[in-house]
Amino acid sequence: NFTTPKLHKKILITAGGTKEAIDPVRYIGNRSSGKMGFAMAKVARDLGAEVTLITTVATDIPGIKIIQVQTAAEMMTQLQQLFPTTDVLIMAAAVADFKPLNVADQKIKKTDDEDTLTIKLTKNPDILKTVAATKTTQFVVGFAAETQNLLMNAEKKLNSKHADVILANNVAEAGAGFNVDTNQITLLQKNQQPETWPLMSKTEVAKKFWEFYLDKI
Ligand code: C5P
Repeated sequence: NFTTPKLHKKILITAGGTKEAIDPVRYIGNRSSGKMGFAMAKVARDLGAEVTLITTVATDIPGIKIIQVQTAAEMMTQLQQLFPTTDVLIMAAAVADFKPLNVADQKIKKTDDEDTLTIKLTKNPDILKTVAATKTTQFVVGFAAETQNLLMNAEKKLNSKHADVILANNVAEAGAGFNVDTNQITLLQKNQQPETWPLMSKTEVAKKFWEFYLDKI
């Protein structure tokens, strides 16, 4: 019964795609809408949790503390500050794996004699891996968006990123993943058979996830 508040926990959720500056007016981004993280946040709030949402998507959600960030570096700074006092981290953000090595001070101009432009990228830190490596009692949830070898790749992430749960989805399938209102999840935990959930709305995924979590505590 989701009208009865019972999740008396501090929950930290990241959502949306990071935006990595190229110059003062341009960035490298991705197609993440933030919808999955927002749904996780709203359902947790409705269950009575104290929710903080770190997001790249401009939003205002009643009853949820919003921290607006742009880049992976900013997201990581906020997370490192808040993670030690949180009970659950849900890392739903689509963090850019790379960012421009140098950010131009001025808007990059096209010229008549150059038909190509090269932007050199450098690796971003893996936020989940870095932050979850410091965990003590926190319950950590990562996402894995895959286009192939879903289970194998998600299993690897469960271990390498110090996550308690990975919610994996095949983004090559219609209705699953980026920028749609539905998702099709396979839930992975250590030493347990993967659980495959049917295609459902992101709100239903969030309800099912919090039901699963409440069952464990
Ligand atoms: O490695 P991959 O991007 O597929 O892993 C997805 C999970 O790792 C998500 O939970 C995402 O938020 C997190 N991640 C991260 N830092 C990165 C890349 C991904 O925290 N640089």
